[in-house]
Amino acid sequence: MSDLEITDLHVRTEDREILKGVNLSIKKGEIHALMGPNGSGKSTLANTLLGHPSYEITEGKIVFKGEDITGSDPHERAKAGLFLAFQYPVAIPGVSVANFLRMAINAKREEPIQVKEFRTELQHAIDLLDVDRSFTSRHLNDGFSGGEKKRAEILQMAMLKPDVAILDETDSGLDIDALRTVAEGVARLHDEQGLGALIITHYQRILHYIEPQFVHIMLDGRIVLSGGVELVERLEREGYDEIRQEFGASV
Ligand SMILES: Nc1ncnc2c1ncn2[C@@H]1O[C@H](COP(=O)(O)OP(=O)(O)OP(=O)(O)O)[C@@H](O)[C@H]1O
Ligand SMILES: [Mg+2]
Repeated sequence: MSDLEITDLHVRTEDREILKGVNLSIKKGEIHALMGPNGSGKSTLANTLLGHPSYEITEGKIVFKGEDITGSDPHERAKAGLFLAFQYPVAIPGVSVANFLRMAINAKREEPIQVKEFRTELQHAIDLLDVDRSFTSRHLNDGFSGGEKKRAEILQMAMLKPDVAILDETDSGLDIDALRTVAEGVARLHDEQGLGALIITHYQRILHYIEPQFVHIMLDGRIVLSGGVELVERLEREGYDEIRQEFGASV
């Protein structure tokens, strides 16, 4: 059984149907890449998985670890072990990265984490991801560069140990170093914690740092092709036009 099972998902926003029947399953420990031209619906899928209220699911369902989460709120999804990047993109004045991480962990637990256990876990994450220790004393997102925000996010992921993470890197304007931070971080968490991930990206270069087992191509609100990394090579050679023609898609 897959950990995340998306079946025939139809999503509309405002008056328009954007996702027109998406099927995708991801098991813990699997790395999937989702690619597709601008406007094909990738971020809509990420936002819908996050439970964003602007996106209305009109058909289909999302099942996570056997539980139907189609109507669950973002907090319930996170608690179940789904990690959605950009959950907390705003600056929180006066909250250090370390305190924020403690709050994020406690939100998932019944009992607050013990100080000693938290320190041990934090040190482990810092070592694993090769982050400077002083970084965790800085205030969250306060004057963070794009790369630093990413580092905080990957640290959060290491601490929360989700089963599956959804990372929409398409809209974030990451430079290649920040992209590498994300990709290497995900690769390490994959190796150490068995993290599964759906990485939404335009960059073939991310694949130098983390190799997905599965690559999916979205056109016009549907996943039209799934395969291995050879699909990325095909895209690099042909662009999206050949695939559009093959599937008669307009976006
Ligand atoms: N909240 C919204 N309100 C209105 N239209 C929306 C909304 N979100 C997405 N759309 C529309 O849905 C379509 C798909 O957008 P989406 O952001 O999912 O594309 P994308 O594949 O992520 O593109 P990109 O590669 O540029 O990030 C676009 O036409 C977009 O304008
Ligand atoms: Mg997008």
